[in-house]
Amino acid sequence: MSQKPRLIVTSGPTREYFDPIRFLSNPSTGKMGHSIATAGIDAGYEVIYISGPVPEVYATVNGAQNISIISTLDLLDAVLRNLTPDCSLIMAAAPADYRPDKKSAIKLKKTESPVLNLVPNPDILKSAREYTDKEKLPVTLVGFAAETHNVEEYAKEKLRVKKLDMIFLNDVSRSDSGFGSETNQLTLFRKDGSVEKWSTMNKDALGGKIISELTRWRLAHQAG
Ligand code: PMT
Repeated sequence: MSQKPRLIVTSGPTREYFDPIRFLSNPSTGKMGHSIATAGIDAGYEVIYISGPVPEVYATVNGAQNISIISTLDLLDAVLRNLTPDCSLIMAAAPADYRPDKKSAIKLKKTESPVLNLVPNPDILKSAREYTDKEKLPVTLVGFAAETHNVEEYAKEKLRVKKLDMIFLNDVSRSDSGFGSETNQLTLFRKDGSVEKWSTMNKDALGGKIISELTRWRLAHQAG
């Protein structure tokens, strides 16, 4: 019996705490990542679902190996530990790009007027590509580009700089797309230069379409 192809899907926000109860984050709910992971199970993939702090309904996917993380560094570690030859990674998560340089062990008092110094977090997709290039692991890397302006230019730049196979541009300035919405309007940019603008769809339908696209890509570009 042939082994199922592995698919890692990341989902939801990350949190960067600066005291025990306060953090930097963003409004990702995990719905988009959950829909993709569910469609991956339906299509016969071995799914590793890695989610940040999301509502319970999006915290686990039936049939997947479910991993919960909090910070961007946790997410990086979980992704790198699960990359295997011929696997695919879809980064639907919205990791925090910065973290406070220190975390107070006790709750800061209002009177303290704290100043936050932020340090950049590693880029997970870039780190994954560096790792798989070094280890000579053939993998398919798929990103999202959540943009509010110059949307196409930024999506193409992320595709190139992060050395992705494809990227889904998500214009999050639209009311029918992005964080917490029921629907998304995505435009697919492939590394061969081809572009497809998809119509606005609910996130479950998009999950299925993204997985069909991934499967087509793998058959054309990867063994196994
Ligand atoms: O969860 P929902 O409420 O359903 O919302 C869905 C969504 C808007 C979160 C999702 O569809 C989406 O667009 N996810 C990407 C959000 C994001 O972080 O975009 P970005 O343009 O900042 O990052 C580009 C890509 O790099 C993304 O694939 C991201 O996961 C990845 N990234 C970002 C930061 C980082 N440190 N490492 C990364 O790998």
